[in-house]
Amino acid sequence: MASSKRRRMLQAGRAGGALLAMGLTGCAALPQSTIDVAGPVARRQLELLNFTTWLMVVIGVLVALAVVYVMLRFRDRGQPGRPPQTRGHRGLQIAWTVIPILIVIYKAVPTVADAFYLAETPPNAMQVNVIGHQWWWEFQYPDLGITTANELHIPVGQPVDLRVSSVDVIHSFWVPRLAGKVDAIPGRSNKLWLQADQAEIFWGQCAELCGTAHAHMAFRVVAQPPDAYAAWTRRMQDLAAHPVTPADPVAARGQELFTGKAGCLGCHTIAGTRAAGKVGPNLTGLALRTTIGAAALDNTAENLSRWIHHPAEVKPGALMPKLPLTDAEIQQLVAYLRLQK
Ligand code: CUA
Repeated sequence: MASSKRRRMLQAGRAGGALLAMGLTGCAALPQSTIDVAGPVARRQLELLNFTTWLMVVIGVLVALAVVYVMLRFRDRGQPGRPPQTRGHRGLQIAWTVIPILIVIYKAVPTVADAFYLAETPPNAMQVNVIGHQWWWEFQYPDLGITTANELHIPVGQPVDLRVSSVDVIHSFWVPRLAGKVDAIPGRSNKLWLQADQAEIFWGQCAELCGTAHAHMAFRVVAQPPDAYAAWTRRMQDLAAHPVTPADPVAARGQELFTGKAGCLGCHTIAGTRAAGKVGPNLTGLALRTTIGAAALDNTAENLSRWIHHPAEVKPGALMPKLPLTDAEIQQLVAYLRLQK
């Protein structure tokens, strides 16, 4: 009896220890952490957060100690009469006005300096237009003539000047490990710059409630070494200049469907083909992406088929309609789209 109780306590203790360890290491493993930064903008913001937090901790501890001191030092010891009164004490009045003003100034100096740092895009930045849609992201590279969706490719170590806007409602562009969020507002162009220190795929997320599929309005920032990034831009430009012409009859049938009966071209663009719809994501180079449906699924043939079969099941609220296509027709479309790379 006693030994089984002890065993249970030991087990509980071990489980608690494991949970604590997960809690302590969890932050580093999260792909959307603001305290595991990977670029100069996020780092400046984290430093300001740390500075402010420690300042508050110091002030909080000092105030708590002062309260304890006053409670002990001036407690009722049963003395007769009123204790000495301090109401209207000039020295105290000045002290508790001046000290908070000094604290606010002390905190304002790095805050204002950071605001200027963030507002000043470095002169060697490359430009990308970010456009929020319900519920996906469009990325335009005006200097390269490239338009893509949901995966923003950037070269490592290069500042990127983002102009953030929206075509429908207010969204918010957020890559926690690279920079703080900025609103995407219809009819406005908000600025944000960021830079990645290392080659990695960073997770991004719409951070403004924007309708049914808000939670599934994610994206990726693919930070690549400069040569890999240049290869990607060349490939994207090449796909537009020489669109894929499928040799395989299944994929060729898929292309006919895409630009014909299936009606995909009403919403989607594939550069260099008749498909020039602007409502949905540009699918040029679709097979180069790691995810589909704004990061709702990994980009595999199976998932692409599932997505075309049942968009609303994969992503409730998705504006992509369920098309009246046979299984064979969907397989033909998938075969064609898998060639977009
Ligand atoms: Cu877009 Cu939330």
